Amino acid sequence: EVVREWSGRLQLERQLSQHLHIKEVIIVPGNVDTNTNATMLLSQEAAKYLESILTDEKIVAVTGGSTIASITNFVQETSKWKQLMFIAARGGVGKDVSFQANTIASLFASRMNGTYRTLYMPDSLSEEAYTTMKNEPFIQEMMDLYERTNIIIHGIGDAEEMARRRNTNEQEIERLKEAGSVSEAFGYYFNEQGEAVHRIRTIGIQLKQLQHIEHLLAVAGGAKKAKALLSYFKQAPAQTVLVTDEGAANEMMQII
Ligand code: G3H
Repeated sequence: EVVREWSGRLQLERQLSQHLHIKEVIIVPGNVDTNTNATMLLSQEAAKYLESILTDEKIVAVTGGSTIASITNFVQETSKWKQLMFIAARGGVGKDVSFQANTIASLFASRMNGTYRTLYMPDSLSEEAYTTMKNEPFIQEMMDLYERTNIIIHGIGDAEEMARRRNTNEQEIERLKEAGSVSEAFGYYFNEQGEAVHRIRTIGIQLKQLQHIEHLLAVAGGAKKAKALLSYFKQAPAQTVLVTDEGAANEMMQII
């Protein structure tokens, strides 16, 4: 707790949760853009929050990205859970396997004695492949698990950065810009008003499914992500808890 005690933090947390219309905002000191210690604090705080809401027989969906990957290092190794299941919220992102939702789900499971389900498929499918895949039994099973997901832990990214990470071609990047994409989460791109303007054609959790999930834990920090966070939170489910850092929080307050 000591590390989170800096002057004005509680007030800033309250102000931000009101502005973003979400359940809670937790802010750690520093800025992950320039300070690796802040990354550690962010992950630690997210791990702690996750542990505080876990009970057995839960289905936890996780997305990809470096932030969510880092949380796996901070959850306590335990064998107390007997029925926890971690699932990949969607197919892979980019080339780096260590930041993919599949890998992250298996890492959480191995530290917390859970089971896991993965979705191994290319990040972006052709329309034909997508239509065929959707009817595969293992995909149907994942879709069913998404309906029953209790907790989701997800990152939020800057739209252009995420598009580049996915090796999106220039033409497509131009199209994303024209559509006004500012942020990305779950493979959806959102404009400044928080409307989904594009979705990567991949199997994954649907935006409308988020509405019934009991706990949404968003973890994203760094002043550079402030605009992306403001975009995503324009229409994010109200039950979301955001774990962020001082860098992103202060920058968001400047823009608001
Ligand atoms: O969807 C957004 C990404 O998961 C964010 O990735 O945590 O590596 O910035 P990052």
